[in-house]
Amino acid sequence: MTGTRDPHDPHGTRDPHDTGDARDTCAAHGTDDRDRVLERFHLIANGPALFNAVVAGAELGVFTHLSRHPKSSFDEVRAALGLPAHQLRVLLFALCTTELIRRDGGAYRNTPVAEDFFASGGEDDWGDILAGWQRIYYPAFAHLTEALRSGENTALAAYPGSEPTLYQRLEHRPELQEVLHRSMTAFTLRSMSGIVDHLDLAGVEHVLDVGGGDGTTAKALAAAHPGVRFTVFDVPGVAEIGSRRMAGPLADRVALHPGDIFLDPFPRDAQCVLFSHCLEVFDGDQILALLTKAFDALPPGGRVAVYGYHAADDEQRGLYGARLSLYLNVLATGQGMAYPADDYERWLGRAGFVDVGTVADLPYEHGLVTGVRP
Ligand SMILES: C[S@@+](CC[C@H](N)C(=O)[O-])C[C@H]1O[C@@H](n2cnc3c(N)ncnc32)[C@H](O)[C@@H]1O
Repeated sequence: MTGTRDPHDPHGTRDPHDTGDARDTCAAHGTDDRDRVLERFHLIANGPALFNAVVAGAELGVFTHLSRHPKSSFDEVRAALGLPAHQLRVLLFALCTTELIRRDGGAYRNTPVAEDFFASGGEDDWGDILAGWQRIYYPAFAHLTEALRSGENTALAAYPGSEPTLYQRLEHRPELQEVLHRSMTAFTLRSMSGIVDHLDLAGVEHVLDVGGGDGTTAKALAAAHPGVRFTVFDVPGVAEIGSRRMAGPLADRVALHPGDIFLDPFPRDAQCVLFSHCLEVFDGDQILALLTKAFDALPPGGRVAVYGYHAADDEQRGLYGARLSLYLNVLATGQGMAYPADDYERWLGRAGFVDVGTVADLPYEHGLVTGVRP
């Protein structure tokens, strides 16, 4: 395994201007420093309110306003947003508490993280990520105890249909499917550097991206590998979203392939099968079935690549992995988690792949596991 992650910045997101000691889990492994644990507890206890304040701030345009007009007075922010004065005062108090904005000498400004995360207005805007978490992920968490007790994704009952996963049921809710995929697209773009930098496609002409969503990853890889074409295999509603977003010079190298990745055959002319943020949503048997399908679809010398959240260490700590794992079990599939790389390496071996290896410690607690069909 290779490591590239700053141990004090496991998500690759630390404010470079922050010289304080706001370090994450990894920095304090092996210690039970009461002050640090207390600080984390207070943040967690109050986190849901502050989370929603950040979403509201993004939706109301606080960060985009401060990006265009740094050093705005309260009255200037109020004139731009049109909120009642008292409610704006409360919102700005909360946002200053998050430290995404600061008030210096009566003027408000974005801190560099807010400027990067919420002011770009691009497809990778964190406002879209959090909007999806607010509308889809977090309402489900009220069912967590029940879901853990029963071993079922009980929060799925809020979605019409009889299918066992959120992904299938959202086929009946195109508007929410769009929200989820806008959120996923933005997060995928934010966590993309690991796969773009480390996936070796030398000698590969065609990549099959299984559970490839709306094609965001395939498009980024197509841009980085000009000679390679991509087929994105996902449910029909998501392929439809992908086709609406597919435009420009990359569109002729990225094809959408609607279907069910378990029930329908994999196209057989790819030299690389990629699972990006896909296998972690399933259980071990399903993962082994998908890896075996990939093995059967590949020619000798063909490669498999598994990119996504990895449990970071033996204690399996990780903010992103823990949140994802809980969400999967309470709502999305009722199984799956940010598995450690060792699990993936074992599954690849059992499916028949050789030369199995992992690039670990990629941004946002990600890793890349690869293998070769002999
Ligand atoms: C967590 S998302 C990852 C999407 C994309 N690879 C990315 O990194 O953004 C998992 C994807 O698997 C797809 N999926 C889940 N079950 C599926 C099935 N049975 N057939 C086809 N696609 C499926 C979902 O629709 C979803 O797009």
